[in-house]
This record gives sequence, structure tokens and C-alpha cells, in this order.
Amino acid sequence: MNILITGGAGFIGSHVVRLFVNKYPQYKIINVDKLTYAGNLANLRDIESAPNYKFVRADICDFDTIYSLFQTEQIDGVIHLAAESHVDRSIKDPFTFARTNVMGTLSVLQAAKLYWESLPEGFEGKRFYHISTDEVYGALELTNPEGVKPPFTTKASSGEHHLAYGTDFFYETTKYNPHSPYSASKASSDHFVRAFHDTYGMPTIVTNCSNNYGPYQFPEKLIPLFINNIRHRKPLPVYGKGENVRDWLYVEDHARAIDLIFHQGKVAETYNIGGFNEWKNIDIVRVLILTVDRLLSRAEGEDLDLITYVTDRAGHDMRYAIDSTKLQRELGWEPSLQFEQGIEKTVRWYLDNQEWLDNVTSGDYQLYYEKMYANR
Ligand code: NAD
Ligand code: DAU
Repeated sequence: MNILITGGAGFIGSHVVRLFVNKYPQYKIINVDKLTYAGNLANLRDIESAPNYKFVRADICDFDTIYSLFQTEQIDGVIHLAAESHVDRSIKDPFTFARTNVMGTLSVLQAAKLYWESLPEGFEGKRFYHISTDEVYGALELTNPEGVKPPFTTKASSGEHHLAYGTDFFYETTKYNPHSPYSASKASSDHFVRAFHDTYGMPTIVTNCSNNYGPYQFPEKLIPLFINNIRHRKPLPVYGKGENVRDWLYVEDHARAIDLIFHQGKVAETYNIGGFNEWKNIDIVRVLILTVDRLLSRAEGEDLDLITYVTDRAGHDMRYAIDSTKLQRELGWEPSLQFEQGIEKTVRWYLDNQEWLDNVTSGDYQLYYEKMYANR
């Protein structure tokens, strides 16, 4: 199989590319990425010379380039991750989100359709897998502000801290109700993907995943931003009262789910991905402070006074909570890590990879591609 992975130089994409390149030497993996501020080839240094891997710098909105890539690389499968992904940026610059997330997705869909339809076998054996988010479902209420044990017994939910902050969850059948320009653009792209199945018979799959955390996440997102700030004793800007709830999944568990669904998921289906792992932002922030302080041999809780409550995010969704029972039941996926283990691993990674963080916060990483290709 020749598989096109879009957005493979970003946070989740780099984990997916690494998993596929290492696990499937018989496949050719073509990573197409524009290398926006969020794309960083240093995320893939360990596999960049693998014989079954190729990187192509391109904008997914550039239909002609994407279509000719399908032809030259004879693409059989697509895992589409390229997107603008940060909610705060979407509030400031919604056009960029509509362009990449909506028009870019349409461009990859149309290129796949035209190329596959030109083959004798048509859509047979082909697959277009679109990676989406739980944010398209909108926001849930915080009906259990103190948290209750949910009625689930997954590995990840057996940890002591595991609580549900409401009685409702996002199901695959939950009606779309996006609130931010980011989630509106992702919702629109999901609709286009399903429309290509319903109209043209394209073999599509959509998954909606909860918040990911782990190595190589750009430090504008809560967890890496705050780890870096705690290390440098900079203020931690908690939006509103810090009561908002997010449902966290270790990024490698998401990549494993993507692998499973790409190979075994049913065409035209939607799968929710999440580990039943809800946390209030302020509780996460406290865990991060205690973990960084311990790993840097600082006095316990020494950095708690870095917490700074700031003006809330506009339209800030209160609670996300994914029900991933379908994926667990039908395909046997479950998260491998408890949150306490995942957070420890993640904090250690950022503390041990200060150079990576310094490069991305200074912008130096954007020279990496130019330097690498200037030498060829
Ligand atoms: P990211 O911002 O870290 O990476 C996005 C990648 O896409 C970057 O490498 C960037 O250079 C590339 N890209 C952006 N615009 C492009 C364009 N026009 N053409 C080609 N490449 C382009 O994002 P992420 O957090 O890794 O998210 C990946 C996907 O997963 C997104 O579709 C996102 O909506 C979805 N998702 C993310 C999360 C999460 O918690 N991060 C959760 C669920 C779903
Ligand atoms: O739910 C999946 C989504 O998770 C993905 O689709 C998005 O691509 C990804 O960015 C993420 O969105 P969030 O908005 O939930 O993630 P973020 O890390 O930006 O924020 C997490 C929570 O922390 C959110 O409630 C806002 C809050 N926050 C965030 C930042 C950056 C703060 O309180 N302070 C901050 O400085």
C-alpha cells in the first residue's frame, strides 16, 4: 500500500507517521505537510531516512500538486490530519481555518476521487480516513461539579482520579453543534467527507477524538505551554476559573487507534476515540506543577503561586467527554496508559527535550527544512 498521511510533521501526525513507518516496512508512507508554524520535521528525525518514507512539502489547498502526488505515488489510502488546530488562533483568524480545514480537505477528497475513479479497480481496496475532533459535538454541561465515578471499567479509567463531571457524553450519534471557528471548520470538513461517501461511494471513515497530550505538541496548547512555563517560573494563564473539563488521551494511544481503524474500521462509519479520562483544567495544572517540581527537585508545590487566572476564552466550551464504547467493543481498542503514567512520561519528555522546546519557541525549527534541503 502507498499511504498519504497529511499533516505528518505536526503533533499527532508525527506519531502516526512514526508508527506506520516502523510497523509496516512493506508500505510506502508519503507525508505531505505545508510546514506551517505547527509543522516541524525535527519531530521525525528518527525515521526521516527510512526507505519506506518520503516527505513532500505542499499545501493541501493546492489541488494540482495534491492530485499529481496521487498519480505519481499511486496512493491507495489517505490518513488526513493536516489542519489548523488551535482554538485561540481560530478566534483571531477564522479565514485561515476555513481555508485549510474546509477547502484543504475538499482538495484532498477531490484529488483522491479523481485519481481512484481513473483506475480500473475504482474505489476497490481504497480508503480515505479523516481525523476529526470531539469539539464538533459542542459542549456538555458540568452537572456533577464535584465529579463522580463513571460506570466504566476500562484500563485507563481505573485510576484513582478518574471522574465524570456530568451525566451526558459525546456519542457517535450526538448532533453536531460546533461553537468555535476551529470546530465549525472541522465540522464542515467532516460533512464533506461523509458527502463524498454518500454521493460518490468513496470509502471514507471519520473519527472524533478527545484532547491529546504527549511529546512533540506545540507549546501553545495547555500541557506543553504550562510545563515550559513552570520550568522557567513564568505565569500560568488559566482561562476563567479553570473549571472547564477536557477528556485527555495519550497521543500514542490515539495513533494506535488510527492504525486499528485504518485497517479494520468499517467504511462509512464514525468512531469516537477517548479514554474516559476527564479532568478540570485547574486540577491538571496542579498535577503539572507538582510533577515538574518533583522532577526538578524543587520543594513540593513551590510553583503553585504561578497560577494566574486570566480572562476566559471567548465561547469557551465547558466540558468535553467522549464515549468510546463502540471502538472498544467493536475493534477491541483500549488506552494503554493511565493518566498518571502518561503525564509523568510527558513531563519527563519536555524536561529532557529542552532543546526541542527552545527551538520551537524561538522559531529556529523552521530553518531545519531549508537547511536540510540546501545540503542535498
Ligand atoms: P498540529 O497543529 O500539531 O499539526 C497540524 C499539521 O498540519 C502541521 O504539521 C502543519 O504544518 C500541517 N498543516 C497545516 N496546514 C496545512 C496545509 N494547508 N497544508 C498541509 N499541511 C498543513 O495538529 P495536531 O494537534 O497534530 O492535530 C492533527 C489533527 O488531529 C487535526 O486535524 C486536528 O483537528 C485533529 N485532532 C487534534 C486533537 C488534539 O488534541 N491535538 C484531538 C482530536 C483531533
Ligand atoms: O478536544 C480536542 C481538541 O483539543 C482538538 O481538536 C484541538 O486541536 C486541540 O487544540 C484541543 O483543543 P482545546 O482548546 O481543548 O486545547 P487547549 O490545549 O488549547 O486548551 C485546553 C484547555 O485549557 C481549554 O479548556 C482551554 C484551557 N487553557 C488553554 C491554554 C492554551 C487555559 O486555561 N490556558 C491556556 O493558556
